[in-house]
Amino acid sequence: MSTATDSQRPKIVLDCDPGLDDALAILTAAHFGELIGITTVNGNVGIEHTTHNALITAQIAGLSAEVHRGAALPLIAPTMDAARVHGATGLGDVKLPELRRSLASDDAVTYLCDIARSVDDLNLVAVGPLTNVALALRRDPDLHNHLASLTIMGGAAHGGNVTPVAEFNIWADPEAAAIVFREAAPLTMVGLDVTHKVLLGGNEASQMRSAGTPVADFAADLLDYAYARCREYGLEAAPMHDATAVIAVTHPDLFHSSSHPVTVEIHGEHTRGMTVTDTRPLSNFVPGCGVPMHQVVWDADADAVIDLTVQACTAS
Ligand code: BDR
Ligand code: CA
Repeated sequence: MSTATDSQRPKIVLDCDPGLDDALAILTAAHFGELIGITTVNGNVGIEHTTHNALITAQIAGLSAEVHRGAALPLIAPTMDAARVHGATGLGDVKLPELRRSLASDDAVTYLCDIARSVDDLNLVAVGPLTNVALALRRDPDLHNHLASLTIMGGAAHGGNVTPVAEFNIWADPEAAAIVFREAAPLTMVGLDVTHKVLLGGNEASQMRSAGTPVADFAADLLDYAYARCREYGLEAAPMHDATAVIAVTHPDLFHSSSHPVTVEIHGEHTRGMTVTDTRPLSNFVPGCGVPMHQVVWDADADAVIDLTVQACTAS
């Protein structure tokens, strides 16, 4: 479906915590974008695992993108992982080859600060907890002004997945998310409002497997594991949250969004990690509101996004 030439492909740095859907996001970013670098963060599993998983994904797909290890801990919050979804080491039970690739550095924050200023038209896509991005903003408060866009997978205007109102990436480091939402406006929030509409399952895994390449087999194995976990939780298919966020950057015309004040709740006993989204008409004119406006993604052409995800995983 994509006909983008190299010069049209958006330049992307992907900040991630692989993670099943993060691994598919790496493949998607490399196929539809120009994936310049990958930074890793503690999240779905610990930093040693997320970094290993980013490297092994890049290796399997033959990517040249540099991999930089990032934050091992949230800013303040205790570490909470999502191993019950992604498996103890983050890539389910997928059989992996021996790792041959190595890190470009163990300082993702310095890399993010440098790359934002040295590469024009760079899109930063953050699909894990926002620890690295917050630390980079603390070091360079003007960082976001050197980016073409900052897109996150995280949050939701309505609902959550870890608590009734908090999504995992925000909940895992709410203080970092609060810094990013306060200081890097406008960002694009690809949250559960849209990612829960882009569901993949056995059909897509079969399509991937029939491609018969090592990358497609790897992607199918990841999807099969995610799909099996989702069925255990009573869901009929698996959201590929992070790949959806990447496609929101590479194919923005497939998505519907609008601008709203969004702030991250860090204190609430029952609401910590909530992305409080003001959808009142004219909310930006409420005197003294003072909450930065962000682009909230609500909906997508789900079939097209699913097709593109499969396409990214089955390209040779
Ligand atoms: C997000 O949480 C993680 O488990 C996924 O990788 C995704 O980034 C969805 O809430
Ligand atoms: Ca993730």
